[in-house]
Amino acid sequence: MVKVVICGAAGGIGQPLSLLLKQSDLISHLALFDVVNAPGVAADLSHINTRSKVTGHGKEAMSEALKDAHTVVIPAGVPRKPGMSRDDLFKINAGIIRDLAEGVANNCPNAFVLVISNPVNSTVPIVCEVLKKHGVFNPKKVFGISTLDVVRSSRFVSEVNPAVDPSTRVTVVGGHSGVTIVPLLSQIPGGFVDGLSEEKLGELTHRIQYGGDEVVKAKDGAGSATLSMAYAGARFTLKLLEATVAGKSGLVESSYVNLDADVEHTAEFKSKTGLDYFAQDVEFGTEGVSKIIPLPEVSAYEKKLLEAAIPELKINIAKGASFITDSA
Ligand code: NAI
Repeated sequence: MVKVVICGAAGGIGQPLSLLLKQSDLISHLALFDVVNAPGVAADLSHINTRSKVTGHGKEAMSEALKDAHTVVIPAGVPRKPGMSRDDLFKINAGIIRDLAEGVANNCPNAFVLVISNPVNSTVPIVCEVLKKHGVFNPKKVFGISTLDVVRSSRFVSEVNPAVDPSTRVTVVGGHSGVTIVPLLSQIPGGFVDGLSEEKLGELTHRIQYGGDEVVKAKDGAGSATLSMAYAGARFTLKLLEATVAGKSGLVESSYVNLDADVEHTAEFKSKTGLDYFAQDVEFGTEGVSKIIPLPEVSAYEKKLLEAAIPELKINIAKGASFITDSA
């Protein structure tokens, strides 16, 4: 039974995510932090008769919220409007994430940090650099939440071929924006891709890479994915808690992580690509990342997708890391 903090808890993702986490018996204290309306959301959730205590913490109370947390989930910041890329959010969200990471370093340096705020490809390096600066960085404990790409892939694949159950896991690697999202559809059992024309495969891949745009467009200025993201964020958080609190083994989820989290399985990939961060299937253990599962044999089509993803990822990573290192 542990303390979990949601930073940005009163937002479009934060509220349904808090509701989903309120249902877990693994959490004893759910601390909701936001610069607006956190006490209101906390009061509402606190009436639900599950085990956890719920507390709300406003603008001036970040330290109090984060104190001694086991896990910190961060969906704080601004979402996209139509026509915006995730990278366009950097200007505002980078500073928010830096300040929250400082709060983690000062109040719960051993916490697992789960970053939802975009652009994830850059916000995760920001968190890692801040924690390094404070001498408390553990690459096994910082996760970029790219689970929504996996959730969407499973759903969209099952729509293309109803014989594939929507719960079928699809491996998605790379990063969490546009061309950096690389679904490895060739890994779906039962020869799923063999039944697809090249055109259909291209369409499906594009839909997975830009699925977020469908929601941004449909919401027409009122934000981006919140409910499906809350589902994905809760799925990831609860799996991590199952491993770190309940000691379950063999649990796997895709995540955008610092590759030093598992040097044994990433050293070769790192030196070949020059990447420090990459989204890959990760197996959880009691300390966070227990194994980064090496890339499987990919198809020629997927190889091309990876070739497009890598240079873009490098730019995103350098942008996030230098936001902290250049201001030192
Ligand atoms: P929202 O605007 O509805 O909520 C954000 C919340 O963060 C607001 O309640 C706001 O008051 C709060 N906030 C702002 N500054 C803060 C600070 N310094 N400390 C604490 N809280 C602060 O936005 P929404 O839709 O919930 O999205 C949040 C973030 O998640 C965005 O950056 C969005 O791009 C990202 N996102 C990530 C996805 C992923 O797959 N990783 C998917 C969808 C969205």
